[in-house]
Amino acid sequence: MSEAINIGSVDDIDEGEAKVIPAAEAGTEDDIAVFHAEDGNFYALNDECTHETASLADGWIEGTEVECPVHSAKFCLKSGEAMCMPATIAARTHKVEVVDGDVLLYPNVPVAEQA
Ligand code: FES
Repeated sequence: MSEAINIGSVDDIDEGEAKVIPAAEAGTEDDIAVFHAEDGNFYALNDECTHETASLADGWIEGTEVECPVHSAKFCLKSGEAMCMPATIAARTHKVEVVDGDVLLYPNVPVAEQA
């Protein structure tokens, strides 16, 4: 399991907003977008739409989904699943925890592996 990265206080990412963690900082191939969803929880996906090229962090959060800003595909923030066309491939998930008011990101640890 990879080490957690403290990406800052929960107050640093407003609900309905996202923060991009650059690949160089996360130690991953792709940038990671950490979303503060409308259910109050934090979720992380690769910051790359699986349809073409777009930053999901630039999209719109609705509930626990994010809508791609380019062609409006929607992804489940919990599972990464592509919810509608034109995307058909799930976005990669990364585990996120909130501990003592800080958001901890576990790059390359899929949500399915969360305890
Ligand atoms: S680039 Fe995201 S839906 Fe096309």
